[in-house]
Amino acid sequence: MPDTNLLSLQIDHVGILQGRYEEVLENHGYDSLLISSGAAPVRYGDDQSWQFQGYGPFLHWTGLAGFEHAWLLIRKGHKPLLSMHQPVDFWHASLELAQEPWLAEFELRFSEHRAAPALDSLGQLAVIGDPLLLADVSGEHNPGALCDAIDETRVHKTAYEIACLAHANRLAIAGHHAARDAFLAGASEFEINLTYQRATQQREADAPYHSIIGVNEHAGTLHYQCYDAAAPDKSRSLLIDAGVRYRGYCSDVTRTTAGVGEGRFGALVQGLEQLQFRLCKMVAPGVDYVDIHRRTHQGIAALLSAAGLVSGLSDEEMVSEGVTRAFFPHGIGHFLGVQVHDVAGKPVPSPADAPFLRLVRTLEPGMVVTIEPGLYFIPSLLEPLLSGPLGEHMNRALIKELQGCGGIRIEDNVVVTDSGSRNLTREAEA
Ligand code: GLY
Ligand code: MN
Ligand code: MN
Repeated sequence: MPDTNLLSLQIDHVGILQGRYEEVLENHGYDSLLISSGAAPVRYGDDQSWQFQGYGPFLHWTGLAGFEHAWLLIRKGHKPLLSMHQPVDFWHASLELAQEPWLAEFELRFSEHRAAPALDSLGQLAVIGDPLLLADVSGEHNPGALCDAIDETRVHKTAYEIACLAHANRLAIAGHHAARDAFLAGASEFEINLTYQRATQQREADAPYHSIIGVNEHAGTLHYQCYDAAAPDKSRSLLIDAGVRYRGYCSDVTRTTAGVGEGRFGALVQGLEQLQFRLCKMVAPGVDYVDIHRRTHQGIAALLSAAGLVSGLSDEEMVSEGVTRAFFPHGIGHFLGVQVHDVAGKPVPSPADAPFLRLVRTLEPGMVVTIEPGLYFIPSLLEPLLSGPLGEHMNRALIKELQGCGGIRIEDNVVVTDSGSRNLTREAEA
């Protein structure tokens, strides 16, 4: 069982959610809210289901990621009612609820049936969840304005959530260290993945996302999803982006390691890490997250110059002409919580110069974000640059050499505090 401090923070968390939800329901004219945990859809033309991970609002209240066909009812002035699905089933194991103190804050029921619990006197009822599961449920389904307001209740993490995210980081770091050692010992991507799972004691299907494990040029595919079972003749680089789910909460951590003898690539990794440290230090209340993204492009420009990859262009020209975008094509990060790309990051669309940015808000205490700059050698993005009018500024020989190392990403999970920030990933590494 987790320590008593965490368990008592969880009781506070439930109380805080009750207050936040009551206010949202009141503001939107509802008396009660029914939340579906969700269920894995069966694959088309098959009798197998997709892997299940629960619906965000249900996880926010309970942290129970693997429980299908459960329902949670929230009403003003009542304990939340948690109805768990417990079928008689000799094919599958019944998931057990750990007997923990937070359950006393709920009215708990068990049902053999998948249907929502039959309830009276709910007044104006809203129901949220996967529409496929709501067909027979009365009430207003997924009203947009209410759903947006509920998403907003997840933006400022409670002390309990931050403690869970910190622990998810500690677990992930154990996996990252083991993965790095396996890479340096010559392991294949497949073996590195097994090593990570063994160290984190979490199967990949239960992790927040499938691990991204790229050796050599595979490190240049942003969400590389195949694992070579054979190690390459020479292991030049490893990019591993992998997290752990703990009590519903996700870590999302990336590390890049240069192989033995890869001095130039190793220097670039160090340079990007120095930039990443500076970007993490920018995290503070009142800072526009888009500014951190823009500062990343300036830092990438300086790094491209210092590494001799690009010459004869100022940092400003490299940014305005799209050179940095070719090397760093994604956003600097996103919110993190019970979903790896947590909700409510974009109340307005991303700006034109940052189309893939998932978070465009001013930072406030309690928000948790990732900071994940990258520098990649992606043929489809670099070829237009090399064959275009700026081609003469590119160091083709060096780009070609480093293309075999794929790319670099370094990603930490950072909490905005009252006075600055707390880097959960570096804390876990210390
Ligand atoms: N692991 C996916 C991401 O970093 O956003
Ligand atoms: Mn991320
Ligand atoms: Mn990641």
